[in-house]
Amino acid sequence: MASYNTEREGQIEFYQTFLPLIDPSLSLDDILADDNDGVLKGNLLEFKLRVNDLNTVLFQCIKYLSALRIKGKPVPANIVIIDLNGEQAYLYKSADYLADIEKVYSGGASKANSGFVGRSYKEKYDYSKQLDASKLITVLKTTEWTKIHLDENCIVGWATAYYKAVPAARKEDFIGDETGKHKTIGEIRNPTEFAEYIYPYTGQSNVRFQYLMDKLNDTLQKKNLGAFYTPEIYAEKSHELLRMAIARVPAGNDYVIIDRCAGTGNLEKTLTNVELSHCILSTVEYYEYKVLQEVLGSRVRHIIPPVEANDTFNAGLVRGADALSLEYINNPVIRQYVDDPKCTIILFENPPYTEPQAVDGQKSAPWKNSYVLSEMKKRISGTVSNDLGNAFIWSAFQYYLRQTTDSYVVYSPVKYWKVQNLVDKQFIKGFAFNRRHFHTNIDACIMVALWSNVSDTITQELWLEAFDVVDNAVQYCGSLPVKKVLSLFSDRYADKRFFADDTVTGITLGLDGLESSNTPRIKPLYNDNLLGYMIAGSSGFDKPDLESSLMVAGCYRGNGFFVRKDNYLEKLPMFCASRYITYNRAWTERARIMKSADGADRYQADVASGKLDQWLRKCLLFTCLEMQNHMRTFMGSDGRFYRNELCLDTTNGETLASVDIALLSMGDAEKKLMAQWGHLIAEAKKTAEYDPSLTYGVYQIFSEIDTSYKDDNGKTVWLNLEVHSALQTLKTIVKEYYNTEIVPTLFEYEFLK
Ligand SMILES: C[S@@+](CC[C@H](N)C(=O)[O-])C[C@H]1O[C@@H](n2cnc3c(N)ncnc32)[C@H](O)[C@@H]1O
Repeated sequence: MASYNTEREGQIEFYQTFLPLIDPSLSLDDILADDNDGVLKGNLLEFKLRVNDLNTVLFQCIKYLSALRIKGKPVPANIVIIDLNGEQAYLYKSADYLADIEKVYSGGASKANSGFVGRSYKEKYDYSKQLDASKLITVLKTTEWTKIHLDENCIVGWATAYYKAVPAARKEDFIGDETGKHKTIGEIRNPTEFAEYIYPYTGQSNVRFQYLMDKLNDTLQKKNLGAFYTPEIYAEKSHELLRMAIARVPAGNDYVIIDRCAGTGNLEKTLTNVELSHCILSTVEYYEYKVLQEVLGSRVRHIIPPVEANDTFNAGLVRGADALSLEYINNPVIRQYVDDPKCTIILFENPPYTEPQAVDGQKSAPWKNSYVLSEMKKRISGTVSNDLGNAFIWSAFQYYLRQTTDSYVVYSPVKYWKVQNLVDKQFIKGFAFNRRHFHTNIDACIMVALWSNVSDTITQELWLEAFDVVDNAVQYCGSLPVKKVLSLFSDRYADKRFFADDTVTGITLGLDGLESSNTPRIKPLYNDNLLGYMIAGSSGFDKPDLESSLMVAGCYRGNGFFVRKDNYLEKLPMFCASRYITYNRAWTERARIMKSADGADRYQADVASGKLDQWLRKCLLFTCLEMQNHMRTFMGSDGRFYRNELCLDTTNGETLASVDIALLSMGDAEKKLMAQWGHLIAEAKKTAEYDPSLTYGVYQIFSEIDTSYKDDNGKTVWLNLEVHSALQTLKTIVKEYYNTEIVPTLFEYEFLK
């Protein structure tokens, strides 16, 4: 009998004994990929020190297999339960439990498993005996799988696995069916790549997956089409706005509700039959189009194109349905209404969102070459045209809305109104929704707004009623202001001075604050009066850590400005503002709150009068103790010694910051921070990594002293635990300090608004 103290100990010894006999090339990492005790070839293994109830353990295994199916991973044919101290192994066949495996479980797999009725095991092995041990080895060498059925719970996992296994595959190769004119039979209906793992899906069309069609897009389409579907609960809430738009239709008028990017029709599905009879829908992705036809085709006024022709399928897209093409704008089915003065036009859309960058292998995303974008660029300049959603919004007003009673109900982050001035129309009403529920995992604010086609260049502030989704119901989260941003940090605050004695002889750094070999996009200035380089300028918080930094010399990427010693204090609120989202992660903040220089006149006057002296020093204290301040001390390749002056380490003499901090009247909050900093640097000095010639800031301690490695179990081991602990505590105190002492004044002076 074995006598292990822990499961872990027994499990590792089991693998050490058996793995070399089964497949010496396998390591523990290959086997332990999915939070279970291991999948070894076609076997799921579950270890217990002692098995007290086989059925309970079996049910735990079934839950692991259920999780594998949902992730798009093959389900092993064998379940092997191992009683470590009894040296017994029990073999079950997963096929006997397929119905249970194809259910979805929530909560931990090891919880609430009693009461499961299992069948008796197929075999039992006493592997302390030679014969049984060799039988067990034979079982563990097998690579057989239990085929599973595809459904809406697992299809996304299998799609992801498929596109990974067959990188050149397109959506049709995965979900193609026999309906319609384009008849590619995809993997789900005729498995080849996954022939051993899945049963063919027998659904004739893909309608069962209608809410997931965006997630089934291949990698290229995901990037090009920017499809993030609206959850039904939000679609229904936004119907309130749509109905307000319908209420604006003048008596005697017909009206149409146009959605040029309807996907599978999520926005419209729960409209009434009467409302649907006014809808004109289209979408550019072929399989969405087919589902749209199937689900809503008979109930809406038109789908564009109305019927599928032999050439409708066009490399995964629908010919004639690209809303950004001239052909679409001139589509006669839609034009007949737009040209009819007795018809009111309502657009109701959730336009696609995409990243501005081109996709691998493409010169630029296809929509960048579209007719609408080229027309938009002729009329509006700047980054506004980097956003696919903006092309939809701009073209809605440009080509469709004509009368003051026409309306646009549109989902999009507020940026297009708040900072990009894309729309100068009357806002009637709007909601704020949580982006997390749109098939993303980002907490951010999406506005759905009802715009009338009446000019309004005066309004500076909108109010949105905010709704999160909790337990599949909308939950009111209060009313949120959205204030217009008129000027950017770069317009009013960035230090653009050049000095006669500036030279272009400096070094350039990467975002980690160390020298970079990347080609610089800036001139590497050097001057004794330079303190460093600040990046804080973007108006939004899309990539908060990329768009916020301080370093001792110019950053090769640019997008910032050089900070000089004579006025650095008054520049620090920009850095402080750029940290807002990091410390305020509620969904209501991201994509609603932005940075501005709109309070610049008041701010500069109050700086000049000395009114803000103490607050600026609070900003300094925060800056010195904040992790995104990437200033370090090091010897540059130009032979100069770069010293971090925005830190509180006075081991090698005062820093600029320590001199200025001396003028801060310290309350309890400041004293707490200073004490924690004192503790951190004292602990850092005790470590082998500490270099007494350097002047350390928090980030340099984090990067060079708070080091770690992963142990055999994949757990992080901190080499200087005292330093690590002190840093963790500091982070928490810094966050509290920021939100109580810094943020309110950032809002007061509109650094944040
Ligand atoms: C954000 S999704 C919204 C889908 C659906 N209306 C909803 O709310 O769930 C945007 C949709 O636009 C489609 N799309 C992307 N580019 C398009 C284009 N150029 N023309 C028409 N539709 C497009 C995508 O395929 C996707 O279905």
